[in-house]
Amino acid sequence: MRSRVTLRQAQGPPGMTVNMTIIDGKAISAALKAEVKAKVEEIAASGSRVPHLVVVRVGEDPASVVYVRNKAKACDVCGIKNTTIILPEETPEEELLAKVRQLNADDSVDGILVQLPLPRHISEAKVIENIAREKDVDGFHPLNVAGLWQKTPHMSPCTPKGIMKLLEAIGVNPKGKRAVVIGRSNIVGLPVAKMLLDANATVTMCHTRTVNLPEVTRQAEILVVAAGHPHTVTADMVSPGVVVIDVGMDRDPETGALCGDVDFGPVAEKASAITPVPGGVGPMTIACLMENTVECFLNRHNN
Ligand code: GUN
Repeated sequence: MRSRVTLRQAQGPPGMTVNMTIIDGKAISAALKAEVKAKVEEIAASGSRVPHLVVVRVGEDPASVVYVRNKAKACDVCGIKNTTIILPEETPEEELLAKVRQLNADDSVDGILVQLPLPRHISEAKVIENIAREKDVDGFHPLNVAGLWQKTPHMSPCTPKGIMKLLEAIGVNPKGKRAVVIGRSNIVGLPVAKMLLDANATVTMCHTRTVNLPEVTRQAEILVVAAGHPHTVTADMVSPGVVVIDVGMDRDPETGALCGDVDFGPVAEKASAITPVPGGVGPMTIACLMENTVECFLNRHNN
């Protein structure tokens, strides 16, 4: 599950080697999907119908097209029934809300995901709060967000949950560690900071406009970067041995190549572990979505 890579030399004197782990999100997510698949098979063997996820995409945003396709593929791998609804870009807000309410009322649907971003004329907040809380596989509904912050039962958001699972899979316990999170979005930065805090890390929440950001990031033993900008973290901004989780999915402005928020090569030379982009956090988000779908199914059928 872990790719151990011995670098020629990192921080030590000439001749010294440093072990560095490239965190294999694909392998870790494959193991999680296998667990989900086994659970779905158990549900089917009990005579019940299998969990059903509905994903709604509005418009043709190229990234969303890929993400939604990958979600359907993951459902197929796990044996989860899945339906993708594609609506035109110009769909009125009220029409999308009516679709969401129809899915809420449909007893054969266990999970509802409306892919973000939505076209500008549609309020994302309004859509999210109209998804039934018990079908909110994203964990974005205000009551699920409140549950995370108040430590009451809730659906956990997929990317932060996936990050915590990656750390666990490589044997990194946040307890007692200094964690720094760059980024303050509702989807990643805020919830992952809370989860690290609940795991007994000491957490610093910051952002790209933080004064003296390198001074802050050099304190990190665990560094989560969810800024959405390439080159947010350069090698001079990290201390030797840091565990780096790169949530970015960017395009390098010079080469156009897919990249994360972290300068992978130079930072990897100092890190003890780092996620690649792609193949790190991304696959975990989808695997956690599969897990959440089964959790929604079980909550609805056992309560
Ligand atoms: N767009 C990018 N990531 C996500 C996600 O996790 N959920 C939804 N609904 N939209 C997204």
